[in-house]
Amino acid sequence: MSTTRFLTGITTTGTPHLGNYVGSIRPSVRASLRDDVESFYFLADYHALIKVEEPSRIQRSTLEIAASWLAAGLDPERVTFYRQSDIPEIPELTWFLTCVTGKGILNRAHAYKAAVDKNVATGTDVDSDVTAGLFMYPVLMGADILMFNAHKVPVGRDQVQHLEMARDMANSFNHRYGQHFTLPEVVIEESVATLPGVDGRKMSKSYDNHIPLFAPRAQLKKRIAGIVTDSRAPGEAKDVEGSALFQIYQAFASETETVALRQAYAHGIAWGDAKSMVFERLDTEITPMRERYDALIRDPAAIEAILRRGAEKARKISTPFMAGVRHAVGLRNLGAASTAKATKADKTAQPVFKQYREKDGQFAFKLVDAKGRMLLQSQGFASPKDAGAAIARLQQVGGAALPAFEGQLAAGEGVSNDDISAALQLLADAAG
Ligand code: TRP
Repeated sequence: MSTTRFLTGITTTGTPHLGNYVGSIRPSVRASLRDDVESFYFLADYHALIKVEEPSRIQRSTLEIAASWLAAGLDPERVTFYRQSDIPEIPELTWFLTCVTGKGILNRAHAYKAAVDKNVATGTDVDSDVTAGLFMYPVLMGADILMFNAHKVPVGRDQVQHLEMARDMANSFNHRYGQHFTLPEVVIEESVATLPGVDGRKMSKSYDNHIPLFAPRAQLKKRIAGIVTDSRAPGEAKDVEGSALFQIYQAFASETETVALRQAYAHGIAWGDAKSMVFERLDTEITPMRERYDALIRDPAAIEAILRRGAEKARKISTPFMAGVRHAVGLRNLGAASTAKATKADKTAQPVFKQYREKDGQFAFKLVDAKGRMLLQSQGFASPKDAGAAIARLQQVGGAALPAFEGQLAAGEGVSNDDISAALQLLADAAG
């Protein structure tokens, strides 16, 4: 069975609100439960440094966002849940990608361009108050994605350009150094409407119209009571169209419940009563999560331990993968024989994939090194095409592809994953 790898990052700059929950946390947690999906979720704290200068706010937000995802049901055993700054290979890859990214491409990034345009409009120096961090933001994001060879990246619409840039970087690198990176695809959740805030505009911290996801009950009630409505009196029919209150309810309620509120609107429910209904419905969904959230926030050391375990899991992939990438660009052990200029003899002294048919008619393969040592043995596949696809994946992705084949591939006796990664790298270099 092949799995699709989903990856997304959450910048640690604030406290999650209902809009984040409905638009990102809830769909991601649900997706992570699918059997055909392998999920990577991380706290993008390096990205946060570009936007927030207060160290204590970064720390607090990292804690709150981690606690929110866990409280919402993210299972750290099932997914890879980690903190970006725990993966030192990410800034390293950022540099490699920086070196294959045209400056002109970064000039066109929306956030950077907006900052420059603002300066131009006010007649100040074009780069006034623009950090190189803001300029490099898309490259860091590219490294996040390409490091784990993600197939799908669920993000908001505002991130589509960053995904295009990540694909560009992958292409440039692959073109120059051989197939290392999978081209990621953007996933925009069409079914998830953006949630309005209390003033009817899109819920956003920057408009200060947001409702914190885990506000205490009393505060949740107060914020919901503050949602704008029109001046229609009790008994007068009300419109669901354009009603922020209705839309917020709909994001939490079942189909039947939504139909019932729609009817209540038509029958002239008083705004106060409608607000009580919405509050009660949201509170029912939120209360069990809020209890978990509060417990987690009281135990930051437990969250720290979860994130460190997540980083360990992530680095099982990133460390061998980056070893291959370093080698590919020419950062190599000068003492190792394989660093000599490739000659015809080297080419013949390559590891090889050997495909064969098993007695039971299944199709299998082995990876054998130049000395004839068996490095890797596959199980039987139903068709030669399946076996071929597995080989192609190993050739393209290298050692980082190994975890995805758990149970389907066995290492030879005394062979470590690093040995296998190195052999795959040799093959990739020969091909490139
Ligand atoms: N830039 C993203 C945002 O602001 C956060 C992010 C950082 C991200 N790295 C990522 C999202 C990698 C997806 C994949 O929403």
